[in-house]
Amino acid sequence: MSFYVDEALAAGGELVELGVGTGRIAIPVALAGAHVIGVDSSPGMLEVCARRAQEAGVEARLDLRLGDLRRPPVDERVPLVTCPFRSYLHLRDDDERRVALRAARELLQPDGRLVFDVFTPSREDIEETHGRWIEREPGIDERADWDLEAQTLTLSVRGPQGASTMILWWVEPERWHSLLAETGFEVLACYGWFDRRPFAGGEDSVWIARRK
Ligand SMILES: C[S@@+](CC[C@H](N)C(=O)[O-])C[C@H]1O[C@@H](n2cnc3c(N)ncnc32)[C@H](O)[C@@H]1O
Repeated sequence: MSFYVDEALAAGGELVELGVGTGRIAIPVALAGAHVIGVDSSPGMLEVCARRAQEAGVEARLDLRLGDLRRPPVDERVPLVTCPFRSYLHLRDDDERRVALRAARELLQPDGRLVFDVFTPSREDIEETHGRWIEREPGIDERADWDLEAQTLTLSVRGPQGASTMILWWVEPERWHSLLAETGFEVLACYGWFDRRPFAGGEDSVWIARRK
């Protein structure tokens, strides 16, 4: 994902990725020469990430730590914290969001940046997908159950490896803006996609915020 690679290099190549997952972003970022501290609460994800890092030959630049993004096990202070691919949607309310944003701020050097992306579904997307099994990849079906009142997406996936369900909690971009201001950030940019087009009310929002 060149957006996150560019942000990592622009920040000088030292960063923490919260919710590092299987390293989909962290490995290209490390391949570009950056040092990544990757935090995730799932031992399984970290295991896959460690294996992929080794295969890519970047294990020395990827420091993987088991932990919660609301209380990251990181003493270092860095110029950049990222939280790619909607990991903040695992936070269920504003209290959790504030705790997570303050925790990210703590990791940042003065003027350091927090970069993350989230989504807010459109009515059309909800109507199109609600309660239907849709084949996302050959052999892998996904079903979205949207609750407009609770602002939750219950995402079910089934495939050859088994089935799983998770809940994501979304809020409007205006709320992200207020939460960032409340927790000591200045919003430098809010894009509508990773090509840095300005946010114009779509589903995706990509945020660059500076520690005040
Ligand atoms: C959608 S994946 C994103 C993975 C990666 N950043 C990427 O772009 O591919 C979300 C990740 O966040 C992790 N996660 C969810 N809640 C978390 C929490 N409270 N603390 C740390 N990691 C969490 C999940 O285990 C998962 O690996």
